Amino acid sequence: MKLIVKHYYCFGKKAENVGRNLLISSSWDTIRLDEDESTPFSIPSNRNKWIEKCKNHTIMVERGKAIANFLKIKRKNFKKVISFGFGAGFMEYNLKANYPEIQISCSDFAPKAVERLKNVFTEADNVEVFDMLKDEWINYGVDTLYILHRLDADFNNKQWDKIFCKMNQTGIENILFVPCDISKIGFLLKSKLGYFSQVLQGNKMSFAGYLRNRNQLVALFDNYYKLQEEFPIHDLTGFLLKIK
Ligand SMILES: C[S@@+](CC[C@H](N)C(=O)[O-])C[C@H]1O[C@@H](n2cnc3c(N)ncnc32)[C@H](O)[C@@H]1O
Repeated sequence: MKLIVKHYYCFGKKAENVGRNLLISSSWDTIRLDEDESTPFSIPSNRNKWIEKCKNHTIMVERGKAIANFLKIKRKNFKKVISFGFGAGFMEYNLKANYPEIQISCSDFAPKAVERLKNVFTEADNVEVFDMLKDEWINYGVDTLYILHRLDADFNNKQWDKIFCKMNQTGIENILFVPCDISKIGFLLKSKLGYFSQVLQGNKMSFAGYLRNRNQLVALFDNYYKLQEEFPIHDLTGFLLKIK
């Protein structure tokens, strides 16, 4: 059975600025450049503070380490990774720290977040603006791994079809697709109940995308990529995809 539910999030004091829809670049920029640099979303403008945040983010430390270990095992296969929709770059910093030999490029469609990350993540080989729905995909060859880390919620099924179709047509061979959660029915229902309880308390909710169960997630890439390997990335599951 394939399941998908809409997901909403309450940004508290920032709810007004974020607006009703998180899934536009200006909303993401708002939470990335929040003057409260302690939120789970913001990128501090000071490099040392950003590094401190990356190192203290236990889950991102472990995920970065897990992806680095995976790449080390496959050392001969991958020389470069590109992470799309990098967010605040916490996982990417930890990946590079655990595997300095790997070339790393990062992109996101939120321009202010990109400018900020460029200033703080000086170990990255490239940081740029890239819109996964509108920009032209480039094939950097078989030794490049394209990382899609926790981006599943940001696109509807039709948009994911467009993304995987374009990646396939460009000849991109290897993708590491790491969904936020392989959601169980209970989790999906809990998210819905959470929404109603927040609304009843009078909180402003922002639309934050889509939650899917495993069958629905696999269906997103199944026409274009085969599932070569499935392995734990700390608390999440990574799907290593190979072009069909
Ligand atoms: C849920 S966050 C995940 C961030 C990060 N990968 C992480 O694991 O924390 C989704 C990210 O995707 C970015 N994004 C959303 N739509 C995008 C698009 N069309 N092209 C590129 N990036 C996009 C957002 O700006 C945001 O940083």
